[in-house]
Amino acid sequence: MMRQYLDVKRRHPDHLVFYRMGDFFEMFFDDAVTASKALNITLTRRGQHDGAEIPMCGVPAHSHEAYLSRLIRQGFKVAICDQTEDAAEARKRAGGKALVNRDVVRVITPGTLTEDSLLDARAHNYLAGLSEAQGDLGLAWLDLSTGSFATQPITAEALGAALARLEPGELLLPDRLLARDDIASATQDWKTALTPMPSSRFDSDNARKRLERLFGVAALDAFGSFTRAEIAACGALVDYVELTQAGKVPALSPPSRERDDAVMAIDPATRRNLELTRALDGGRDGTLLATIDRTLTGPGARLLAERLAAPLTEPAAIARRLDLVTLMVEATALRDTMREKLRRVPDIERALQRLSVGRGGPRDLAALRDGLRQAGEIALVLQDDGLRIKPAELPTLIESMSDHTPLVDKLTAALADDLPLLARDGGFIRPGHAAELDELRGLRDDSRRTIAAMEAKYRDSTGVSSLKIRHNNVIGYHIEITQANLGRFEPTGHGFIHRQTMASATRYTTGELADIEGKIGRAADAALSLELKLFEELIAAAIFQATRIAAAGRALAALDVATALAEIAVDERWTRPVIVEGSEFAITGGRHPVVEAALRKQREGAFVANDCDLGAGRRVWLLTGPNMAGKSTFLRQNALIAILAQIGGYVPAESARIGVVDRLFSRVGAADDLARGRSTFMVEMVETAAILNQATARSLVILDEIGRGTATFDGLSIAWATLEHLHEVNCCRALFATHYHELGALASRLEALKPHTMRVKEWQNEVIFLHEVAPGAADRSYGIHVAKLAGLPQAVVTRAEEVLAALEKGDQSGAVSRLADDLPLFAAAPTRPKGLSEGPRASLVEAELRTVNPDELTPKQALDLLYALRQRLPPRD
Ligand SMILES: Nc1ncnc2c1ncn2[C@@H]1O[C@H](COP(=O)(O)OP(=O)(O)O)[C@@H](O)[C@H]1O
Ligand SMILES: [Mg+2]
Repeated sequence: MMRQYLDVKRRHPDHLVFYRMGDFFEMFFDDAVTASKALNITLTRRGQHDGAEIPMCGVPAHSHEAYLSRLIRQGFKVAICDQTEDAAEARKRAGGKALVNRDVVRVITPGTLTEDSLLDARAHNYLAGLSEAQGDLGLAWLDLSTGSFATQPITAEALGAALARLEPGELLLPDRLLARDDIASATQDWKTALTPMPSSRFDSDNARKRLERLFGVAALDAFGSFTRAEIAACGALVDYVELTQAGKVPALSPPSRERDDAVMAIDPATRRNLELTRALDGGRDGTLLATIDRTLTGPGARLLAERLAAPLTEPAAIARRLDLVTLMVEATALRDTMREKLRRVPDIERALQRLSVGRGGPRDLAALRDGLRQAGEIALVLQDDGLRIKPAELPTLIESMSDHTPLVDKLTAALADDLPLLARDGGFIRPGHAAELDELRGLRDDSRRTIAAMEAKYRDSTGVSSLKIRHNNVIGYHIEITQANLGRFEPTGHGFIHRQTMASATRYTTGELADIEGKIGRAADAALSLELKLFEELIAAAIFQATRIAAAGRALAALDVATALAEIAVDERWTRPVIVEGSEFAITGGRHPVVEAALRKQREGAFVANDCDLGAGRRVWLLTGPNMAGKSTFLRQNALIAILAQIGGYVPAESARIGVVDRLFSRVGAADDLARGRSTFMVEMVETAAILNQATARSLVILDEIGRGTATFDGLSIAWATLEHLHEVNCCRALFATHYHELGALASRLEALKPHTMRVKEWQNEVIFLHEVAPGAADRSYGIHVAKLAGLPQAVVTRAEEVLAALEKGDQSGAVSRLADDLPLFAAAPTRPKGLSEGPRASLVEAELRTVNPDELTPKQALDLLYALRQRLPPRD
């Protein structure tokens, strides 16, 4: 056995080998040490190998999926080595002490999962692969759990954005590419998902042949024209799937080619920063997706996430999606009916995939039955001629959801009401469906009646009224007599044969009972094998329709998304955006969906809506205003509105007219990125460089307090030059928030730069944030006010006010206005104000106050004291 094990292990050095022994999967040697630690299970020893004890640990076979999912989540890959014959077959093959044949039936890796228990129902799980041929790069990705398969040509520069969009569970990379610096840095966020492969596995000629064979075509051109690199990447994925599924390749749709300009480019930093599908803390709460997701099905949720990760750039395609949403917004009754039906739609995409790799069960067939039945009903509802709006996509959707009745009827007729998880448990074929099966079951049931009669007979003949005929899985049917009754008769006289003595009872059998048992067993075996045959037939019938079922699944997901987007649009009073070519960006009454929801939840007052107009002549907005005034919120809400609009959804605004955004950039100054081991300021600059190098005239750039991560004058200079570059060279639409109100000076020189500020009201010495964006520039930053709000000790606040007053009296303002014409002459250094190192004066007032006992003061004394204290305060300006 050890030899067999070591042979398997030699072929799977990078995988934990789960080796089947009886009811357990066992691991040995280093695998056992690793897994026992990762799973926190006991490490034991068994036998000896080369003189040393063999470490071992195991998990029960019936619950091994739970352990698998924990290992996979920790980044391990597991090879399942199961028995490929039973003990009887082994004996027949090699006699008495034969070792049962075992082989790896599957390798489980993060990117090749199909089990519901290992997958997140509401998220895609992509296996991605990158390849190079003739100097080009190609990226391909597939989701084995749904069969989707796509590819695109890519550049090293765009790789990070593409991976951030896909969030692959596993990424295959040829060694040769892994050695390249640009590729290594683009994939550094995906280190745990990386599976390096020998470069030879990415050969484009082999890949082409493999794909042509898989899809049964003479030439791949039928599916589009692919570059060699794309073909190599696709082929490597299919090769890897074959490898991990031990030869069983599930139904995959032919690779669809995605143009790299078909979707809005959003780089990883922008995604992180806007918290589209993942919050800054890595969770889902507070993300745009979590806030807007009203989908009712797993496939719908996955499609919405997929669309949010890749907004479109073609106005016509966006309008097609919007038309569906509008239909659902306008037709309230239809929307309600749709949602009621969608609630009952199971995940037919994943059920179909499991069935096609032989890993499905009766409940997967039931999922197809129920899903396709609902699809048919939904198609009927949508066929209504009375609909006022007729989206162009509707006929295709209806078509793919219709005409599944034959399969639905077949499954309905065949499947019982209560279904076991596994086919081998039997009992899933409906009584009355197959005459032969009914007969076998009848035989089994008759025999059970015979056994009941036999029990009555033995009670009579022995006079033991508590005698029972029982069944268990170890010794089968047996007669059980309690210890107390044993002395009352002679067992052998009744033909009883002793089987087992327990503490409280003794067990017997008889020739008669063994006969019946044999009959029952044969009937049950025959019934089960007949059921399994019918099961295979049903699967074959479903797989025969696989393409159409997959299309129905996609249609249901698309309708779920459209209905869900309509639902939130109605609930939150969102509006249909107008998407055009050109560079308009006119939002009235825009809101931030996530902040608005959070304010509502915390009952912190209403969200203040704001306009944003980045049309020609005003395409760059310089936004100043104190901290906490709402600058970041305003910036992000406009980026989110662009994204929502381009996925084909309604937007949180009164109106929105948007010229297609080809690339979206969002950066925050000095974002903490310690986890990735770079200084925050370095990160800020690297990211800013990427924007200045990549933003086009059709892009939207959002820069939030760039230059914050360094000394004041450094930061101001960098912000200044960046703003000029965006305005003069990139010519993009941009929102630029800054606490350097000195930048306002640029407005006189850059003609499309429009200064705006967050309005605040000063009232009784307090600053009130109105959260309103208005033309103009802030004259002060109110930082000290915010410090006060935050609870800094009064002495520190007062002291800071003094220092500020001193600084502002210096010649800085003159220097700054000179800069507008002459850059970068930041010569002026702040003169150190006198008394900076002396003790805080405010404490004098405090000290004085401490000596006062108000109870002892007359009103006149109190008033005098107030005048005296007032005198001690530093003069204002
Ligand atoms: N338009 C708005 N309406 C209501 N509250 C807002 C609005 N914008 C921002 N806020 C509130 O103000 C807080 C600070 O906003 P933020 O955008 O971070 O300010 P800044 O970037 O100017 O420091 C937010 O967390 C939110 O609670
Ligand atoms: Mg901010």
